[in-house]
Formats: sequence, C-alpha cells, structure tokens
Amino acid sequence: MLNLSLFARIAKEFGTPVYVYKENKIREALGLLRKNINSLIFYAMKANNNPEILKILLREGISGIDAVSPEEITLALKAGFKPKQIVFTGNNITDEETDFAVNKKVRLNIDSLSRLEKLGKKYGGSEIWVRINSSIGAGHHSHCITGGPESKFGIWYTETGRIKRLAKKYGVKIVGLHQHIGSQILELKIFLRAMEALLGVAEKFPDLKYLDFGGGLGVPYRPEEKPLDVKRLGEEISKRFKNFCRSYGRKLTLILEPGRYLVAEAGNLLTRVNTIKKNPDGRIFVGVDTGFNHLDRPARYGSYHEIVNISNPHGRKEKVDVVGNLCESGDKFATQREISHVREGDLLVIKNAGAYGYSMASNYNLRAKPAEVLVEPDGKVRLIRRREAFKDLLLKGGG
Ligand code: LLP
Repeated sequence: MLNLSLFARIAKEFGTPVYVYKENKIREALGLLRKNINSLIFYAMKANNNPEILKILLREGISGIDAVSPEEITLALKAGFKPKQIVFTGNNITDEETDFAVNKKVRLNIDSLSRLEKLGKKYGGSEIWVRINSSIGAGHHSHCITGGPESKFGIWYTETGRIKRLAKKYGVKIVGLHQHIGSQILELKIFLRAMEALLGVAEKFPDLKYLDFGGGLGVPYRPEEKPLDVKRLGEEISKRFKNFCRSYGRKLTLILEPGRYLVAEAGNLLTRVNTIKKNPDGRIFVGVDTGFNHLDRPARYGSYHEIVNISNPHGRKEKVDVVGNLCESGDKFATQREISHVREGDLLVIKNAGAYGYSMASNYNLRAKPAEVLVEPDGKVRLIRRREAFKDLLLKGGG
C-alpha cells in the first residue's frame, strides 16, 4: 500500500520529479533471498548505484558486488566493499580497463578468448573467472536476453578446449565460471535449465572454487504477474548444486548476482501532472513533469509500470495516455491505461522504478536528473542525491 500523505510531503519538501526509495523494502528483498537460497549474493549495482543504497546492502551483510565498469568498481570501493567482494564482469573492455581492475585487485570475469589471451600475456599466473554462454537465454525483452547465439556475452560453451589451452599456455588459473542468461525472469524452469548447462561445462574445469549463475530474478510489474517462488528456487538450486559438488569431489561456492530483485519494488518515481489535453477522438493525454530521460524502461522496452494517482486515488477510472515532457512521441509511460480521474496538479506515483530507473537516466533535451530520497526504517526521509542543477549539465571548461 502506498502511503499517500508521505508522498505528498515528499513532493512538497523535495519537489518533483523525485525518486523515492524505501529502505525496508530493500532489506526485505535481500532477507527473502538469504532465507531461501543458500548462496553468496553479489548485487548487480547497474540496477541502482546510489551510494546510500550500496551502503544499506553492505550494512545488511550482502556478500559482494557485480561491477561492469571501472567507475562501478570505484564507487563500490568507495562505499566500503573490499576488492575481493567485487567481481568485474566487463564486456569489450580495453587494456587500460583490465589494468585498472588488476591493480585494484578485484576479481576478474573474462568475457572473450581475445581478452583471456591479452590478460594471460600480461598477467600470467592470475586467478580468474570466465563468463560462459551456455546457449540458453531468457528475459522480458530481446534487449535483455544475454545468452544464446545472438548474444554478445560470454565465451560459447563449446570453446572449453580453447579456454583451457590458453589458460595453460599463460599459467592462468580458472577458479570461477559465470553466466547470466538475461533479466526479469519469473519462471523457475529456465533458471534451472541454465544452471544445469553451466554445471555441464564446470565438470571440465578442475580448479574451480566459484560458480556464479548470474542475476535475472524477476519481480511482478503487472497486476497479473506472480512473484518468483524463491523458496522453490532455493530448494531446486541447492539440490542440483549439492549433487554437482558431490560428483566434482569438492565443495564449491555458489553465487547469484541479482540487481532488479533487490531494488525494483523499493523505488517509485513521483511526478506531477502539468497538462491535460484531449484530442477530438476523445483520447486524453496526461502530461507529467518527467520523461524517458528519467525512467527509460517503458519507452525502451515497452515495459509496464503501474501508475497510481495519489491525489485522487478513489476517483472514477478513465483511460488515458501518460506522457512525458520530452520532444519525442515515444515519451510515454502508459498507453490507454485505466487510472483514477486525473487533474492538472495531481501527483502520480510510477511504481517499481527502483531498478534501472535512475541508473539509466540521461540529460536528453538538456533536462536535469531528478533528486533521490530514502525513506528510512523509522519513517524519516533523507535526500540521497540532490536534483541536478543547470550548471551540473555543462562540461567543465565549456559554457
Ligand atoms: N549480472 C550481469 C552480468 C548482468 O549483466 C546483469 C544485468 C545482472 C547480473 C543483473 O540482472 P538483474 O538481476 O537485474 O535482472 N535495463 C534492463 C535490464 C538490463 C540488465 C542487464 N544486465 C531493464 O530495465 O529491464
């Protein structure tokens, strides 16, 4: 349930648009995974990199971070994570970025044979992980499927011979295998099939300590979607992993790296209605003070986010298009959506915006990024990133 007066207070104090995160929801999501799945959890910080959110997860005792850029590594270290708690899963990275990660002593997850060779030449004797594409992919949109023949990620699973030959040539030790098949998966079967595929590859690597099955755990966005059954997922994963370790002859460490699952439901984008327009055919456009520069998922993937008119929650339902303030027709949060009667000045909450919301925001149309606030467990509201100002948008030395 949304706390309407809380949102109204936040709008008054911090202005709109504003991202509102509930700390308790993040802790709950982490708690649920921990209770049900016997694994280490590395947070995929690309989902939401607000430093305060990283610190909450660290305080709650999360095992580590999945980082995909030197900048994410730097921020994770700054938030207090130790180098060994960070896995760097770079894709098409440069030599300099590799040097950076090696010097920072984080764990390296190698994504191509070419990078493996370059790393071996310069850093023979390293211990690394290898990202495998086991041919299985899944996800809510083709852009979010990261396994299978059309995916650019990982080393194809039939290349184990070449991986091992290169590793031997340079004295590189492969201590971890990794895969991530895609994002927003609610179906258990596909996880388990992918897990079995990676276990099949793992048999061929004798020095393993870690098996990382990636993230991808989905959350319900649409009213008819059911939450992921994490209890069953945990049971099924454990069963398979135990059997594997028995036949492998050694106990390995199991890792999952969820992003969305930990933060999506904790976040809402609070926005105000500026303009209502009605076309001659009766179509109503509800124009708000944000756009796909702040929450890109509906425009980019056609993603559904529930929208609630908190200023008139019990008003009569009407079908409207909720549109942003950017100069693009695709700047839409919802098309022909039933919400309670909207008036200019009303406050709308766009739900489940905690993952891939702010972290994918841009300055398109030279608009500033919104503020972010955190509702702490005792109900206090704290600004955790201020709204950008015009001067933040200008390049140093320019303008
Ligand atoms: N590990 C790796 C290597 C990844 O590439 C990703 C996400 C994750 C873990 C975390 O996946 P998650 O648990 O969050 O599904 N922008 C898209 C999602 C892109 C995900 C990219 N990789 C969206 O808004 O739906």
